[in-house]
Amino acid sequence: HTIYLKDYAPSPYKITAVDLDFRILADHTRVRAQLTVEPRAETAPGTPLVLDGDELKLGSVAIDGAPLALAAYVADDNGLTIVEPPLRRFVLETEVTLKPEGNLKLMGLYRSSGTWCTQCEPEGFRRITYYLDRPDNLATFKVTMTAPHDLAPVLLANGNLVGQGDAGEGMHFAVWEDPYPKPAYLFALVAGDLGSITNSFTTASGRKVDLAIYCEHGKEDQCHWAMDSLKRSMAWDEKRFGREYDLDIFNIVAVSDFNFGAMENKGLNIFNDKLVFAQPATATDADYENIERVIAHEYFHNWTGNRITCRDWFQLCLKEGLTVYRDQEFTSDERSRAVKRISDVVTLRSAQFPEDGGPLAHPARPDQYREINNFYTPTVYEKGAEIVRMLATLLGEAGFRRGMDLYFERHDGEATTIEAFLAVFAEANDVDLEQFKTWYLQAGTPRLSVTDSYDAASQTYTLKLSQETLPTPGQPVKQALVLPIKFGLIGPNGSPMGWSEVSGGEVRDDLIVLRDASAEITFKGIANKPVPSLLREFSAPVNLDTNLTQSDRLFLAQHDSDPYGRWQALQDVATELAVGAATGTPWPDATVEGLSRAMADTLANKNLDDAFKALALNLPGEALIGRAIGKNVDPARIHAVRDALTKAVFGPLGRDLLVAYTNLSSTLPYAPDAASAGRRALRNRILALLVGSEAAGASALAAKQYAEASNMTDRYAALSISGSAWTVEAPTMLADFRTRFTANPLVFDKWLMVSALAQDEGVLDRIKAILAAPDFPKSNPNRLRALLGSFVMSNPAQFTRPDGAAFRFVTDFVADVDTRNPQVAARVLTGFRIWQMLEPKRREAARVALSALQEGGKLSRNTADVLARMLAE
Ligand code: ARG
Ligand code: ZN
Repeated sequence: HTIYLKDYAPSPYKITAVDLDFRILADHTRVRAQLTVEPRAETAPGTPLVLDGDELKLGSVAIDGAPLALAAYVADDNGLTIVEPPLRRFVLETEVTLKPEGNLKLMGLYRSSGTWCTQCEPEGFRRITYYLDRPDNLATFKVTMTAPHDLAPVLLANGNLVGQGDAGEGMHFAVWEDPYPKPAYLFALVAGDLGSITNSFTTASGRKVDLAIYCEHGKEDQCHWAMDSLKRSMAWDEKRFGREYDLDIFNIVAVSDFNFGAMENKGLNIFNDKLVFAQPATATDADYENIERVIAHEYFHNWTGNRITCRDWFQLCLKEGLTVYRDQEFTSDERSRAVKRISDVVTLRSAQFPEDGGPLAHPARPDQYREINNFYTPTVYEKGAEIVRMLATLLGEAGFRRGMDLYFERHDGEATTIEAFLAVFAEANDVDLEQFKTWYLQAGTPRLSVTDSYDAASQTYTLKLSQETLPTPGQPVKQALVLPIKFGLIGPNGSPMGWSEVSGGEVRDDLIVLRDASAEITFKGIANKPVPSLLREFSAPVNLDTNLTQSDRLFLAQHDSDPYGRWQALQDVATELAVGAATGTPWPDATVEGLSRAMADTLANKNLDDAFKALALNLPGEALIGRAIGKNVDPARIHAVRDALTKAVFGPLGRDLLVAYTNLSSTLPYAPDAASAGRRALRNRILALLVGSEAAGASALAAKQYAEASNMTDRYAALSISGSAWTVEAPTMLADFRTRFTANPLVFDKWLMVSALAQDEGVLDRIKAILAAPDFPKSNPNRLRALLGSFVMSNPAQFTRPDGAAFRFVTDFVADVDTRNPQVAARVLTGFRIWQMLEPKRREAARVALSALQEGGKLSRNTADVLARMLAE
């Protein structure tokens, strides 16, 4: 059944204090909960207390120490109802038994490689004890854990350690207290035999915080980068947002079975180990950057998420969008702002735009859901961050900070809403954000169209702008949005042009704010026809259409002062060529030559950094070309066209590329800093271009780099380049990689990924064989996502093969995994979101596979929900 935002109501009772007692044994865990319950002032006598519960085995129920008669409560599949609770403060005591050993959903209390750990967001706490499992119930928590000393010498929970000792018979205990009231989704505990590294951080006001990262014994050495990232995050949040840490302890635990990246539990963050472990021989630069980013993200949640949390799950992007924005800013400050922006735009376009333009489209703040787990999406996270970024653009850095300060001041300790968030920015800046709010309510990616014209006689230059958002499921009619459009006018000599007067729209310095469906802006005092650079820094998440010519774009690629603008211009030239070729308009050789020269200039430009060049010397991905075509898409044809365009553009640069490749080689020991990583990124990008344009000896060069690499970045790059092109050397390299790193599951994931991304027709059979191997770890989310997630999301040509074999294979896989881990199953299924854009044969094959899955019988709510939306008319 569907839950609606409009039905939100506070619960008639609140739980203000929680005292939990865990008795953890080898094959089951007993949980005793003492909940201090209070009716609200307006609660009528006789109103039942309805607590959530899921897969709990109830032992006993008592109120203020007196056991309840059978008739006084009802326990069923959804929870526990106290039929007629006292209309005063009372303590409800329950005892339940859990089986963490058999919990393959990885929600609630479960075991990962023997370690007991928890995941409660969004609705996992109800799998631990009966509770008001909703984010607007804030309570203080005291946790006592008793466990066998040999199996679990380490006992951790939220907050501060207030007691520990021996409990006899080989057991020991620890008591943790968290003084900050919190919703249950931030609860966590960990019990296990773990190693750790420790460190400390002193906050601006002088609080000394003990830091620790816990992991499997023997992996401590791989935790130092995460620790370094944590300390930099703590310092950054003080400096940039004035936010200090608020407890004496901050712990992170790395576990190997985890449904997503990481979790911001108060004082006890739990991480997927792939986002903690890094050493040069086994982690790539991308891994290092990801670890830094996610460590920062979870840490930043302490203020945006924990101290100020969400009233209900519809408000998820209140904490997620804002925290992603904060982690993006952190990375921008720590590394290159321009490079970070471009990579985020790539992510947004490849993950969020397809969602927003397909059957799973939903607003950043949804107003209904059947299964909240299906709303941890690129729209809530990445589009959510874009919305906050637009707010910062509209208000300016100081105005944005004023709003944030007021947000922390006013809402600390509360569970709140998007409305409250916007209200502080409006108040602190004395502006009206009513129309801006539509960004949170309306799904779909707007199309912004801009055409320019120049009148030499009157020296006026005009931009005509218009916006349109197409209907999305459930939202047939769309409103105009507030679009902040950063821009500049560039004169014929490549330098910025000013104007004497502007009329017809809202223009402040380098920003146009479009609020209406259309506008016509006239600039006076323009001596020559300029080329406009529009949407600098990608200042709004829209699809931009312009009347710029290919040569205007090549001009921008050379002269735009905004690095994003240069990168985008090159992408636009290539996209138009690829779309043309894939839909029957052969490319003009002159444009291809122009693009080729622009790429050569970019490579040679001494003022651009390596990381930027690595991004620029690339063609748009196949999925992006597919979306630019929009309908009747044939991914195999796009694949072929993109390969041909790579050859046409980069083939002529073969010599330059080879020279640059050689010059970029380094004998220095590996260091993960941005500059060194940029150098490797560029060198590996060049290797990809050499292989992609079938330069003589290129595939052997990749094999050589693979064999001689002194770090995983270079080794993995060579492997994946060879693997996706499926060069003659690829099978041997893959076999070598597999045996070289057998003992490391995270490196095994890289092997799985390369295996799934091969572009040859044999790939599906190889994937089937890998999955069918008796020792394949079928319940580990990282393994499954590495193999299946990469295949459906990043190998469009093979996933959508016209015989439908891959569709059927994936839906069979989804049905199987769904019986163990519905979240992983539902996530893999979202790979079908592009199905309606495909050409008829593939579209029909996808429809048949999806319908068969639907008819096949019992699916989890997670998977059934995704499937129903996928198939809705
Ligand atoms: N709050 C976590 C984060 O930092 C993610 C939790 C994801 N939960 C889920 N059910 N998908 O983003
Ligand atoms: Zn988050």
